[in-house]
Amino acid sequence: VRPIGVAVLGMGNVGAEVVRIITDNADDLRARVGAPVEIRGVAVRDLSRPRKIGQELLTDDPASLIARDDVDIVVELMGGIDPARALIRTALESGKSVVTANKALLAEYTGELASAAAEAKVDLYFEAAVAGAIPVIRPLMQSLAGDTVERVAGIVNGTTNFILSEMDETGADYADTLAEAGRLGYAEADPTADVEGYDAAAKAAILASIAFHSRVTAADVHREGISSVTAADLVAAKKFDCTIKLLSICERVRDVDGSQRVSARVYPALIPLTHPLATVNGAFNAVVVEAENAGRLMFYGQGAGGSPTASAVLGDMVMAARNRVHGGRGPLESTYASLPIAPIDDV
Ligand code: HSE
Repeated sequence: VRPIGVAVLGMGNVGAEVVRIITDNADDLRARVGAPVEIRGVAVRDLSRPRKIGQELLTDDPASLIARDDVDIVVELMGGIDPARALIRTALESGKSVVTANKALLAEYTGELASAAAEAKVDLYFEAAVAGAIPVIRPLMQSLAGDTVERVAGIVNGTTNFILSEMDETGADYADTLAEAGRLGYAEADPTADVEGYDAAAKAAILASIAFHSRVTAADVHREGISSVTAADLVAAKKFDCTIKLLSICERVRDVDGSQRVSARVYPALIPLTHPLATVNGAFNAVVVEAENAGRLMFYGQGAGGSPTASAVLGDMVMAARNRVHGGRGPLESTYASLPIAPIDDV
């Protein structure tokens, strides 16, 4: 059997875990895929940094790596728009399957990349882009493909959920808790994307695009962060049996004339303590989906971190590898309808 060749682009926390799991679980992966899964190379920015991988697999030339004939699947974990966008496009156009965790890229270019994948008849999977290990993209795309999703509401940023949970529990103020989140490794060195809601807005754009078969970008998402939430706000919330969570809310809005729009927004919301999302604390994520026939579904777990995010990447990689070995393809993104998007201030 011809092995499945994998190119990994990027070797941060998630990339390192992906490489480790592919290496450690080679026998299981071979059995699940029906062919050996072999890493052809790992593209990194800095070749001189010590890595837990044979030097012969490392390269600083991702374009040449993905162009190799023995590469079937490209796993993109570099993040950012450039050069990831062009590399993924090239991979798809040359018939490679692509797995990516790149939320910033997908929040702008899901449409473009999905069209390129559909054109080339190859898989493009991105379960790890939203809520880490928690399966939420695939349930929306496949399990609920025959239903009508009305609402997706979730806590999809672990850093801000940790900060708000800590402030609620300990009464500490925002600045001290943010520093603590940094010490524990939750917040980025520059935590702006987390605390100002950009990360949650990118994830909301992806969720809304998938749930409502639309093309929502981060710029379409109303966004407020948590930097102005105070310890006093949380005390006040508690007096009303509520708490404050940074929610990403994506909704199908139905007008009286029967027309429909998609609305997506991110803001610190006052929610009753009886709401299922109120009990999601620490760096955990959770997503509640409401669909016409399924009713309410809740997905909960680790939304960040090397191993949990790698788990989602590996799930996608196995699906793509199986399709290459046995034939078949994942869900067709080219079947998107064009549900209009509500203006950003129409919330
Ligand atoms: N900074 C993100 C978070 C990482 O805190 O949730 C996962 O996307």
